[in-house]
Amino acid sequence: MSGKGFFLFVTVLILGACGTDKHHNCQFDFTKGLEKVASGVWKAEIGNPDKVNLLSELDFNPKIDAINNIEEAELPVDKAEITAEVFDGKTYIRFPLDKEEKIYGLGLNFQSVQQRGRIARLHVDHYGGSDNGRTHAPVPFFVSSKGYGVLINAARYIDVYAGTSVRKDTKNPPVLYNRNTDRDWSAQPYSDNLEFLVSAEGVELVFFSGKSMLDVVRRFNLYNGGGVLPPKWGLGFWHRVPTLFSEEQVKEEVGEFKKRGFPLSVIGLEPGWMTRAYPCTYQWDPGRFPNPEAFVKDMAAQNIKVNLWVNPGVAPDCEIALEIEPYTGTHTEWNGMLPDYSMAQTKKIMGDHFSRNAIDKGVSGFKMDENDGYDFWVAPDVAKYPSGISGEQMRQIYGSLMQSFMAGLYRRKNERTYGLVRAGNAGTTSYPFVIYNDYYNHRDFITALINSSFIGVLWTPEVRASKTSEEWLRRMQAVCFSPLAMLNAWADGTKPWSFADVEEQVRQVMMLRMSLIPYLYTTFAHYAFDGIPPVRAMCLEPGCEADPKDQFMVGESLLVAPLFAGETSRKVILPKGKWYDFYTGDFVGDGVTVSVEPGLDKIPVFVKDGGIIPMYEPMTTLPEGPVPVSVRHYGVKASSFDLYDDDGRTYDYENGVYTWIRLVADPAVASGKATVLDDGTIWSFNDYEFKFMTK
Ligand code: GAL
Repeated sequence: MSGKGFFLFVTVLILGACGTDKHHNCQFDFTKGLEKVASGVWKAEIGNPDKVNLLSELDFNPKIDAINNIEEAELPVDKAEITAEVFDGKTYIRFPLDKEEKIYGLGLNFQSVQQRGRIARLHVDHYGGSDNGRTHAPVPFFVSSKGYGVLINAARYIDVYAGTSVRKDTKNPPVLYNRNTDRDWSAQPYSDNLEFLVSAEGVELVFFSGKSMLDVVRRFNLYNGGGVLPPKWGLGFWHRVPTLFSEEQVKEEVGEFKKRGFPLSVIGLEPGWMTRAYPCTYQWDPGRFPNPEAFVKDMAAQNIKVNLWVNPGVAPDCEIALEIEPYTGTHTEWNGMLPDYSMAQTKKIMGDHFSRNAIDKGVSGFKMDENDGYDFWVAPDVAKYPSGISGEQMRQIYGSLMQSFMAGLYRRKNERTYGLVRAGNAGTTSYPFVIYNDYYNHRDFITALINSSFIGVLWTPEVRASKTSEEWLRRMQAVCFSPLAMLNAWADGTKPWSFADVEEQVRQVMMLRMSLIPYLYTTFAHYAFDGIPPVRAMCLEPGCEADPKDQFMVGESLLVAPLFAGETSRKVILPKGKWYDFYTGDFVGDGVTVSVEPGLDKIPVFVKDGGIIPMYEPMTTLPEGPVPVSVRHYGVKASSFDLYDDDGRTYDYENGVYTWIRLVADPAVASGKATVLDDGTIWSFNDYEFKFMTK
């Protein structure tokens, strides 16, 4: 009996009901077949799953202890109502839906937050303008408002019918109407099904429960390795220069940032840093960059990191072309060979090449472009890879594999990186890469930011160009409240000061971003340790059932409601509890929808009652040693906030080398106190000045 056959035999024995005979239904029994792997996490193995799945080829460790620390919760769904069967070589899965139940997640969507009522085929691709499943991170994970979520762990194109299909055997059939006479007749009758079709003879499902949707998401994130903790510099301001800029031009641009008093932490070089791009050599162009080592050092001396653009295709004139050839797929991308990053040999050859040319020269990280699609540009599904991974499976995990590989190169140096990527999937939560794309609708960029919080990925609404200074400022304001604050001037050569009439306002919001780093860094520590997404959809917030597409939470206490070009006012939904204006400390509302008119200078930001926001004084580069932090308190509630501190750049925090500083503030007596917990080392702060914002 072959290995596969034996596995099938054992599975049939264990579950007693499920074989994979193509012509017979194979029913899975969820009342018996769920295997508990941690508190609130269960696995089910339907049929004969593929050897390669979304997680199998990636290097990360699920944070089981942290999952077990989350309050226990049962699965709030009748297991007998969930069905799965293998039929005709495919796996059919069905979850019941209650009347009021809402569904979130199902990939990085740009136009919708709530997903019930949609049909999609989850497929890694560049987002093309509609939420049809083709997107940069089509993570097959849904979160239900009932308090559970499921990962369909297959590296396959997955069809989803999210509350659209109607079964004959349904317990809740749609009302029978007569279109001739009933005005209520609808082309989309009521459905109580959430159905998936996976083109494989089996699949692993991972169930997550939680007392709240946030707890479900936290369990999912921790199962995927916990969130990333970026190096501190990653949270500063990023600027990418035009693609053919030379070393001299970059230096001049950096000098201009200084002269004008604009903050800068990372400078990004686009394809022109290499001798050849599309396909890539990943070797410095001696004309534009005669001395890369000295260039990177010079930037470092100014406290600025260098990030390099790459895409997957290896050029025939790359130093390691011959060596890597056997480990690349059958098809090319822009004439570049596509390394099979699931293989140890590939990681060794490409790893040595990237280390020699970039990482060992002090380059802080990469922007890994075009590992998503479009179909003409990446290898088609008829491609095959030397590891045996098919074109379809590779498409679903190529971005994840590149992330795992690149994160590993920095990890082995005990150095944190932070960068960009165009594709990801389940399993990439702990990897230090933020998704971006070429699509440029501002509203949709914000909706993507919100949706990233359901599926364990990060997104940046990067700024590139604008038609008006108003649009420029609005985009800059929003990006400064995202996981990666970046101007990507690769094509347009824009600068933060490109629109002279809003230059000062842009500078102000970039400075605000820098000031917020102590708060943001703590926010990311909670992503890493507790799985709490740093930017969150409103419906993940206690006391809020609304799911707006244009406002979100950042960290524990900030609610951000960006304005878009052409707007002078907007509505903001304030969850239950008192909320205060970030800039003035004034009371704004409690569990109501308010209309705000902030003027052009400001992005509306609100703070929860008792919110504590530790901030740096405004500065253009991050401080090297400890500096004073000003601790703002909002509202009337006495409260506390644990401020996180570590070395900001290594992985030592994973071995417990970090410190929490408890900030306690009581507005009634206008007094605050900072206490270092556990006598830990302090790296970043030397004084705590409390400011009570609400008078
Ligand atoms: C695009 C990418 C841009 C820029 C460009 C360079 O695919 O999204 O941000 O890097 O490539 O060719």
